[in-house]
Amino acid sequence: MSLETKKETEKEKEIEKKQEKEIVKETKKENEKEKEKEKEEKKETDEKLKKPTSKDYYFDSYSHYSIHEEMLQDQIRTGSYCRAILKNKALFKDKIVMDVGCGTGILSMFAAKAGAKRVIGIECSGIIEQARQIVKENGYSDIIKLVHKKCEDIVELPDGIEKVDIIISEWMGYCLFYESMLNTVIYARDRWLKKGGKIMPNKSSLFISGCIDQDFITDKISFWNNVWGFKMNCIKKLIYLEPLVDIIDQSSIVTNSSILKSIDLNTITVEDLSFNVPFELTSKYTDNINAFVTYFTYTFDDCDEIVFVSTSPNSPETHWKQSIFYLQKPFRVQKLETITGNFLMKPNENNERDFDITIDYKVDGKYAKIESSQDYRLR
Ligand SMILES: C[S@@+](CC[C@H](N)C(=O)[O-])C[C@H]1O[C@@H](n2cnc3c(N)ncnc32)[C@H](O)[C@@H]1O
Repeated sequence: MSLETKKETEKEKEIEKKQEKEIVKETKKENEKEKEKEKEEKKETDEKLKKPTSKDYYFDSYSHYSIHEEMLQDQIRTGSYCRAILKNKALFKDKIVMDVGCGTGILSMFAAKAGAKRVIGIECSGIIEQARQIVKENGYSDIIKLVHKKCEDIVELPDGIEKVDIIISEWMGYCLFYESMLNTVIYARDRWLKKGGKIMPNKSSLFISGCIDQDFITDKISFWNNVWGFKMNCIKKLIYLEPLVDIIDQSSIVTNSSILKSIDLNTITVEDLSFNVPFELTSKYTDNINAFVTYFTYTFDDCDEIVFVSTSPNSPETHWKQSIFYLQKPFRVQKLETITGNFLMKPNENNERDFDITIDYKVDGKYAKIESSQDYRLR
């Protein structure tokens, strides 16, 4: 190779090297830009994730407005609180009120409208964001203070408030105790309610009756024999493991009702939420019984204008419906025969929001001599 050519080749190599360096530099720059963009996008996504998503809704159903829509549209439920608060204005005038689990803030606004001087609404789910806007939209921001926390995690109440005059809460769940929100009301009562203060509602009771669901076999059992040409028999046994929340027509009720548990909100303790109580039912007709049904009542009677609500099958429908416990061993009763039993209900050890229920029952009648026991999980 001539000296000239060697020099040229070296020059070319140098240029190539330079170009390579340029490319590396450019790529580095582009990568950095890309990273910056990714960072920006991640920030945006993180922001979005802070807002409730369908995943949040799954884990935290109270964040979504639809569950509140259902409750607010329940005329019996919301109407009972509206009456109990607004027809007892004298009770609320210039008082400090706590709304435990305020949701959209509806009960807080009833209390403010009734003349309360301060309302503290406590809510752990994301619906509090809407509650804030709702309270503002209705001009109650000066009176209603909202706290976004689990009641049990609150360190101190707004404005240095230490005690409240009235606690309002809608804590009732299916079969009355499901969701165990009553624990939270008990906690709030023991921590913040003034001596002699009021809880609204102040009483509640759970009842049981025997019933016949005529369509049970065709609607709920036989269906699984042939589902689009396939057998799904294993599902059948699940039907007996959990109570079904549904409306029972009053014509399906075969017995009278027996009270299982009565509670006074002023004195109930968390320990009272586990109970094992006897019941006795008398049949009103000669008929089959293939389920027990539970329902509850609640009362505001520590006030001038008393309000009472029943969720029984012969009362107007509510979103709580009734809880139906289907029996693996149905039986027949003659009119006026007695069914005796025991109803055990306690929070599940692994998930305190679930309940374990055992119903023992015994009939020694003309058609049936039966003694049986069935376990259920309310979840
Ligand atoms: C049945 S809803 C009633 C909502 C509203 N008070 C109404 O009447 O429409 C109960 C509310 O309590 C809230 N909640 C349940 N446990 C709570 C707790 N430990 N602390 C704060 N809020 C709670 C739920 O997120 C839910 O929004």
